[in-house]
Amino acid sequence: MLNPDALADAALAHATPAGAPADHRPEFLQALQDALAGPPRAISPKWFYDAEGSRLFDRICELPEYYPTRTERAILARHAPDIARHTGRGGELVEFGAGSCAKVQLLLEALQPRRYLPLDISTEHLVEAAVGLRARHPGLQVLPVAADYTADFRLPAPLPGVPRIGFFPGSTIGNFTPAEALAFLRMAARLLRGGGLLLGADLVKDPAVLHAAYNDAQGVTAAFNRNLLVRARRELGVDVDPQAFWHGAFYNAAQARIEMHLVSRRRQDIVAGGRSWRLEEGEALHTENSHKFSIDGLQALARLAGFEPAAVWTDPQRLFSVHWLRAPAQQGDGR
Ligand code: AVJ
Repeated sequence: MLNPDALADAALAHATPAGAPADHRPEFLQALQDALAGPPRAISPKWFYDAEGSRLFDRICELPEYYPTRTERAILARHAPDIARHTGRGGELVEFGAGSCAKVQLLLEALQPRRYLPLDISTEHLVEAAVGLRARHPGLQVLPVAADYTADFRLPAPLPGVPRIGFFPGSTIGNFTPAEALAFLRMAARLLRGGGLLLGADLVKDPAVLHAAYNDAQGVTAAFNRNLLVRARRELGVDVDPQAFWHGAFYNAAQARIEMHLVSRRRQDIVAGGRSWRLEEGEALHTENSHKFSIDGLQALARLAGFEPAAVWTDPQRLFSVHWLRAPAQQGDGR
């Protein structure tokens, strides 16, 4: 039986070969310096997710304007038995970017997984979530993996004869460029051979609905965006006032994506790691893309990566989609 300490150990053991949590600060500083140097002045949204960023994201998921979370939850809850018919029962569930491990709970009863491997970049938040999940589901093997799934990561050895079912909800795939999404799906198709991927993808829709979802009235999304700078101050000693930037989020129809930017309210110099960059008023740091998909477009991308799209579920308003993508067969299992 895993106790909370063993869980934490497990998370850390898979974080780095040495068994200690990785110090991400050099990589964060490099990413921030590259972003400030530009062009393009852009940084990966993965840097939003320190413990505070993960908490802010959880608050976003509860906002009245932010429809994706509740819509996907409703789809999963409603169709869990049908989903299980496709994925099979008793597999190993691997979740990419598990965060608070909330959505997987909608699937546990129907899918009856042998083991659950939540992966997340936010170690502290992940271990807390895994400990909570284990308390609520004493029969479930939970093995958290502190890892950046966009980089190299290692998983515990597969259980012999147990298919791996990937779970990538929330439309996090929308954070990738199309080329990165393809690369991720190719990696996943290899990792999940003999099983498949359950993937959540937000759908193209009325831009007004999208705009509201990323410009909430309470300003939680703005705080989430600014947390990048809050974190840079604390972790990297960057001398910057997060309030000197406004939250810019808009729908780029040509690229079918929401873009988030931190826009400088005035001319200012930012010093990071001993180097200095000037931002003029109105100049921005591009912090996130959130691509929106059509069902056909997503399935075409999945096919390019080697998956076979086998089922899709949506809500009555067609706001969001959940896809079952069958991975290529294991070599030699005759399928
Ligand atoms: C976690 C990437 C799916 O793009 O909707 C929410 C992140 N950013 N509000 C999204 C996010 C601003 C979210 N994903």
